[in-house]
Amino acid sequence: MDRMEESLQNNNPTAKAFTLTSAAWFALATSFGMIAAGYLIAPDFMANIEFIHFGRARPMHVNAVLFGFVTPGLLAAAFYFIPRLLRTELYSHKLGVFNAIFWNITVLSGMIGISFGYTQGREYAELPWPVDIMVVISFTLVVINLLLTVRNRVEPILYVSIWYGMAAVILTACTYCIGNVIWKPDTGALVGIPDAILLWFYGHNIFGLLLTPLALAAAYYVLPIETRSPLYSHTLSLIGFWSLIVVYTHIGTHHLLQVPVPTWLKTISIVDSIAMVIPVMVVLINLWLTVKGKLGAIHASIPAKFIFTGTIFYFFVNIQGSMMALPVVQRITHFNNWVVGHAHIGVFGFAGVTALGALYFILPRITNKPLYSKFLADLQYWLVLIGITGFAIVLTIVGLIQGNAWYNGETLYRTLPEIQPYYVLRASLGAFIMIGAYLGLYNIIRTLYFNRGAST
Ligand code: HEM
Ligand code: HEM
Repeated sequence: MDRMEESLQNNNPTAKAFTLTSAAWFALATSFGMIAAGYLIAPDFMANIEFIHFGRARPMHVNAVLFGFVTPGLLAAAFYFIPRLLRTELYSHKLGVFNAIFWNITVLSGMIGISFGYTQGREYAELPWPVDIMVVISFTLVVINLLLTVRNRVEPILYVSIWYGMAAVILTACTYCIGNVIWKPDTGALVGIPDAILLWFYGHNIFGLLLTPLALAAAYYVLPIETRSPLYSHTLSLIGFWSLIVVYTHIGTHHLLQVPVPTWLKTISIVDSIAMVIPVMVVLINLWLTVKGKLGAIHASIPAKFIFTGTIFYFFVNIQGSMMALPVVQRITHFNNWVVGHAHIGVFGFAGVTALGALYFILPRITNKPLYSKFLADLQYWLVLIGITGFAIVLTIVGLIQGNAWYNGETLYRTLPEIQPYYVLRASLGAFIMIGAYLGLYNIIRTLYFNRGAST
């Protein structure tokens, strides 16, 4: 390693670059979310601004949270803890920083593309083909950097966070190509039912084989350190990992229970959705027994507070998700705000909140300075907690109103006045989250670049 590379290792510019990426896109993504929520309250409000009307603001919001905020936040943590766990240095910080810059160009290109109407129109696979290629390159660069780090390791034992982190990036580099039908640049799609099956194989794997393992990797690393407790069981941690890989890969078709896909495929997806209780509860039992009796330490630590809260949302999203895969329940909950509630509980309450905790964990360690403001971080925690808990309640109620109305043959427009107040409530709660995101961005920029605090 040359001297310049060595000096780069000491302050981890890769983790810093991904941290800033995540914080900035969190603020932008919530702004897009507020615009989308605004349209649902007052569709004519910004009706003439085509670049941000609902059909564009929504996919901009969703892609920005997935690829701008949550994934880079969790990757920032992975770029910190994977080398440490392996007792070696990251293979290349020059590659890492280039990767972060390229990642930002990719997400920005996606946003510009969508806002100008260039979209492939498939949920979670909206990004136009050139941007798809850039996403695959971005993930491949992460894979190369981390795999070469694993190859250079001094520590022979691979802690479970490494299993989860590596699986997440390697599998996503593959499933992204498959789900976006990357070999068909003109449409990015197959035709008919096979396309729906492929899309949802990929769509749910974005949650199950990207966000979930990256978030669990961070939780397995941070919680034992912040509570000063050894992991309860390494055996359980590997059972949790392998059962996730076996079960989660088969459940995408639970999005298509009301579509004419083959019944055997629906049956597998339902059975495995119920079986998801195994990988989720094994992990949660392991983590919760690790921190048992340490609630005081969790309360005192900002990272642990975020991440422990993330585990509670993980519990709820699993119980809710397994129920939603039952056809008798989905008859009411499908195609309405119940699912949007579930999506926010999972992607934000679990993965996003864990990402925030992971960022606050690494920040003092990659800057060698204390966090700029613990008060602001704590305030952000409460704003986020109120916002996401409120989202979960409000969207679930709206979903039940819509679902039961449709089930009973009510016409759509007659439910609209009834759900309007809930949409106003959702936007108000969204303001809490958005303010939290901007406060977090300020705190993180101050910590990274303008922190006069004493070095630790
Ligand atoms: C752990 C067990 C889980 C199960 C069994 C499960 C089950 C389901 C089901 C059945 C649906 C489809 C609902 C419908 O269309 O009617 C769904 C949707 C969704 N799930 Fe989960 N889920 C789980 C965990 C998660 C997690 C951890 C996340 C996020 C990290 C997540 C994110 C989502 C999202 C974003 C959607 C909405 C997809 C759309 O836009 O249609 N889920 N889930
Ligand atoms: C200011 C805060 C937020 C507001 C106002 C907001 C608003 C919205 C709106 C209006 C939609 C479209 C729902 C629909 O089609 O009916 C949506 C979808 C979505 N949002 Fe947010 N959101 C916020 C924060 C977040 C955060 C922080 C995350 C994740 C970290 C997130 C993840 C998602 C996902 C995954 C979907 C797709 C849901 C689905 O298709 O079922 N949102 N959001």
